[in-house]
Amino acid sequence: MFLKRLECSACGLEHEWSRLQNVCRSCNKPLFAIVDLAAASRAFTRETLLVREKSLWRYREVLPLPLDVEPISIGEGGTPLLRARKFADDIDLWIKDESLNPTQSFKARGMSVAVSMAKYLGATKLAVPSAGNAGGALAAYAARAGLEAHIFMPRDTPRANVVECQELDAHVTLIDGLITDCAAEIGRRKANEGWFDMSTLKEPYRVEGKKTLGYELAEQLNWQLPDVILYPAGGGTGLVGMWKAFDEMEALGLLGQNRPRMFAVQAAGCAPIVRAFEAGEKNAAEFQDANTIASGLRVPKAIGDFLILKILRESNGSAIAVDDEEMIRVARKVGANEGLFVCPEGASCFAALKVLRLAGQIASGERVVVFNTGSGIKYLEAYDRGSRG
Ligand SMILES: Cc1ncc(COP(=O)(O)O)c(C=O)c1O
Ligand SMILES: [Zn+2]
Repeated sequence: MFLKRLECSACGLEHEWSRLQNVCRSCNKPLFAIVDLAAASRAFTRETLLVREKSLWRYREVLPLPLDVEPISIGEGGTPLLRARKFADDIDLWIKDESLNPTQSFKARGMSVAVSMAKYLGATKLAVPSAGNAGGALAAYAARAGLEAHIFMPRDTPRANVVECQELDAHVTLIDGLITDCAAEIGRRKANEGWFDMSTLKEPYRVEGKKTLGYELAEQLNWQLPDVILYPAGGGTGLVGMWKAFDEMEALGLLGQNRPRMFAVQAAGCAPIVRAFEAGEKNAAEFQDANTIASGLRVPKAIGDFLILKILRESNGSAIAVDDEEMIRVARKVGANEGLFVCPEGASCFAALKVLRLAGQIASGERVVVFNTGSGIKYLEAYDRGSRG
């Protein structure tokens, strides 16, 4: 294994990786895994990748977990990067379809790595606040690992997510409130209950799983990153993870210095990052009365807000909000044109693409990658309402 240590993403304080832990002990910000990239690069080359398994564990050298330990894996990663032919005629549009992961969303990536590490480091009971998809993914990986899963979701989480967690034998608690209220409840109870908190970016390894989105994208595009990435940001872990992956790949000698312009797409009813970006803030204030059918984007306050905002600015990208009606409309258009039943979060990126193209922020001929982070099949309530309206 090439994991050297954990380092605070805000103050840089070093932490031992070999202890089960959450955030920086000094400033309470997210911890990042630091990989010995010089050593990893000897075993990890474009050529060695050619013959490896399809799952995200193909990037084993840049992931945590000692090499002699079997990961908790049920086929996560290795999702298709599809060329969109009809949706956007004058740009070179690609869709990374994450709905093909176990439990039908990209949350499987983070949970495969995080549950593998939590088990290895001795956790037995895992708890997570979830908008829905992270809960389903934790339930699946915990079941596979033989660990307990305690999942806290807002009462109005899509029904499919709730039933999925229950059928995967998780302990499910529905909370009258938002994901931040779910997180607070776990915070109050975890010490007594012996739960390890798997909240995104409050746990060091979900972002390591998510960073494989970046590795996979580079590999699938023959080691040329696109001009633009559109990502539906709630906690922002995928965005933060991809950016980390790009830096690592440069250090590994797999990529040059070019980076895509990164755009965070949010729902108009919950757009803390958009507000903070437009106001020139370094952190994002909590968004009041958050409300959107894109449940994964109903995150009024993210611990990684400062990381997301930094990436958007460094990359010359931006943040953009889309309203729910537009997401529903565009989802149907994507379905009709591309044959994909996308989640509302994924649909928001297609909607944002139209706006950015019209505003001239994306030029004709540019290569754009849109993330469909999950399957539309989990959101039947939202889409039914869409067809009635
Ligand atoms: C389908 C979907 N898309 C996007 C997101 C937001 O992900 P992130 O926390 O990485 O910003 C979520 C989070 O729950 C989700 O379920
Ligand atoms: Zn710190």
